[in-house]
Order: sequence, then structure tokens, then C-alpha cells
Amino acid sequence: MDRSAPSPEPGVTADLLPDLGSKGVSANPDPGQRLPAAAPSGSASNAAAPSADPFPAYLVTVDGDSIHHGATTLCPTDLDGGEVVVTVAWSSVNYKDGMVTVPGNRVARRSPLVPGVDLAGTVVASTEPSIAVGTDVVAHGHGLGVSHHGGFAAMARVPATWVVPLPAGLSARSAMVIGTAGFTAAASIDLLERHGLEPSAGPVLVTGATGGVGSMAVAMLARRGYEVVASTGKPSAGSWLAGLGAARVIGRDELDEAPGRTLGPQRWAGAVDCVGGTTLALVLRQLRYGAAVAASGLTAGSALDTTVYPFITRGVGLLGVDSVDTPTGRRTEVWARIADPGDLRPADLERFIDREVSLAELPGALADILAARVRGRILVDPARA
Ligand SMILES: NC(=O)c1ccc[n+]([C@@H]2O[C@H](COP(=O)([O-])OP(=O)(O)OC[C@H]3O[C@@H](n4cnc5c(N)ncnc54)[C@H](OP(=O)(O)O)[C@@H]3O)[C@@H](O)[C@H]2O)c1
Repeated sequence: MDRSAPSPEPGVTADLLPDLGSKGVSANPDPGQRLPAAAPSGSASNAAAPSADPFPAYLVTVDGDSIHHGATTLCPTDLDGGEVVVTVAWSSVNYKDGMVTVPGNRVARRSPLVPGVDLAGTVVASTEPSIAVGTDVVAHGHGLGVSHHGGFAAMARVPATWVVPLPAGLSARSAMVIGTAGFTAAASIDLLERHGLEPSAGPVLVTGATGGVGSMAVAMLARRGYEVVASTGKPSAGSWLAGLGAARVIGRDELDEAPGRTLGPQRWAGAVDCVGGTTLALVLRQLRYGAAVAASGLTAGSALDTTVYPFITRGVGLLGVDSVDTPTGRRTEVWARIADPGDLRPADLERFIDREVSLAELPGALADILAARVRGRILVDPARA
């Protein structure tokens, strides 16, 4: 995939997106940048009004053919509409956050934009009776960090339907170690199990295994008792992946066991793929009879060059995973599975942390995720100096 011109992300309709230009990028925002004030969304009926003080935020601004991005200060009136105001304790860096900083991207749907496709924190004001002040919540997907100011700020205002109260036993920090990536991994496993996958079925492949979705999938599958085979382009990450629960680690280049053949050996009882492109095509032709792959990403490309043979001669399934528009009820169900140590919750979340960054340190983190230099997850602490 040409990473300088990312393809549209799941949940984004390319035709509706603005052309954001095609040239330079800068990590120097206009520190004086102020946003248009949000329309009031009603009075905060079950809370004292949140602070009107300025707060730290990260802003991406399109300027002709260039994109500027960096830390700045915003006021609560700069935020978008919504019933719930949250003080953001943690956010995290996802691949999509990197994409919104690339000139010409077709992911960001506004400028200026506070990126951050996920956040966790505490409700400080709410006009929605079912979301009480003081509730710890997680929010991700929908327009967050794409068309609506997101998690890379100390404060966010979002529609009530976007927040899920944190399940018991899951802190805001743990929720962001998991984040959108872990939610997507969990939703992938949930779909595969609904399709019939069970631990006794045989080896389950995870591609892009050192990334956010991949590493979480490795650990969650291992937690469920599956035999996990992790595919990675980072040979040095073998022992880390084994520590997460991979029974075997293979190189990306070992995926193709029958080059040029329409169908390969029936290797996998199931697969979690966030890589797409030729990788997904290879996975499809190596699934066992009746098995399925849950596909969520496109780090290797959005085109899928395959044949119908895996489907019509082996009855395999290609299950699409979308975390963006997942209805609230299903979000809540998946987060409950994630939080349950007897189910999907990885044993040691600290192992996933590549590093913690402040808003000022985000430019390096965003560049790293675009260049596949991240192992696991990068946490964002908006209050950190
Ligand atoms: N559908 C949804 O709702 C949803 C939700 C979340 C994420 N996603 C998508 O899922 C993908 C992964 O997201 P993420 O946050 O986990 O990203 P990430 O942390 O950057 O992980 C992606 C991993 O893919 C592998 N990779 C990168 N470039 C590759 C290439 N050219 N060929 C083969 N493998 C490559 C790398 O793993 P190795 O080095 O270990 O191979 C990399 O670490 C992205 O496309 C993202 O947009 C979709």
C-alpha cells in the first residue's frame, strides 16, 4: 500500500469526503488557532456546569496542500455538540489517527479537527438521564476524531449514544490500552465464534500481529484457549508475541505456502486479519473447509484480488468487522466480554504498552504508527506536560 495516500477507512464514504490536498505536512500548528463555537446542546441537567477554562488539545488543520498538526489550547465552547461532556483521562494512537495527518487523506472529514478515535474518562456534565455525572465511560468510533472532535484533548463533548459506561473492573487506562484496536479484535473473535469457531477447531491465524488489533487478537484468543499462530513482519518481536500467548510466530513471507495456486493447503481453522490486500487473499485460500476470516483493516492495501473458489469449494466465510457504526447494544456486549478475565480480557495489559505520550509528543507517535514501527499500543495522556 502506498502509505502516502491512504484509502478510505471502514465507515467512511469516499465520495462524501473533501479532497484535503496532496502536498506538505507540518507538525507546527497555529497556536492561536480557535475553532468556531459549538451550538449549545441543552443545559447540563444533572451536573454543575463543567469548567469554562481552556484545556490542552491537539489540532490537525488543512492549509491548502499542507496539513499542520500539533498541541494547542481550546475552550469548552470550541467543542462539538452532544449530551455528554467528558474529562478525558486517556486516549490512544490508532492507525486511523495517523491517517488524518497525511496530506490528501480521505479519512478526516473536517478541518480543523481534534483527532483521537477513542477516549476514556469521567462524565462531568450530561443532559442524558441514563448517563450520570461521575460515570466512567469509554467512547470510540462514530465520527470521533474524524468528523467530530476526538480524544486528543483533555475534554470532549459527544452524543450520549457514543458512550459506553466502563464495565466493572476496567479502569480508563486499561480501556485505552485495549481501545478501538482491542474492541475490533474482540468483535472479530466474537464474530468468528458466532460462525462456529471453538478452541478445539485447530490453529487460528492472526495477521499484523504486532499492531494494535493484531496483538490484542493474539492475547484474547490465547486467553480463550485457542492455538494462535501470529504472522508478523517484525522478526525481532517473536518472544514478545509468544509472551502474549502465540503458540507459533511466522514471518509475513511464510504465509504463502503455494505460490501461484488458486487454493492452498487448508491450514487455518479461523483467522483475524487487519492487514487486507494480498495477505487477506492468501488467508482466504488457506482456510480449512467451513472456516472463516474476520477482516477489519487495510494496512497492506484495500484491493482484494481473489477468486470465488475458496467460497464455492470450501464453504469458507469472509466476515466484515466494523467498529465505527457498531450499535450501542453490541458495543456494550463486546466491552463486557473484554472486561471479563474469564473470557477475552488479556492477562497482563501492561505488556501491550509501547509507550505513553503527551499531546506534544504525538507527532512522533503518529509517524511511527504510519510506518508500522509500533509494537502494541501507544497511550495518550492529554494532561501530561
Ligand atoms: N474495521 C474497523 O472498524 C477497524 C478498527 C480498528 C482498526 N482498523 C484497521 O485495522 C488496521 C490495523 O489497525 P491498528 O490500529 O492495529 O494498526 P497498527 O497498530 O499500525 O497495526 C497494523 C499492523 O499491520 C502490519 N502491517 C503494516 N504494514 C503492512 C504491510 N504493508 N503488509 C503487511 N502487514 C503490514 C504490521 O504488523 P506486523 O509488523 O506485525 O506484520 C502493523 O503493526 C488498520 O487498517 C486500521 O485502519 C479497522
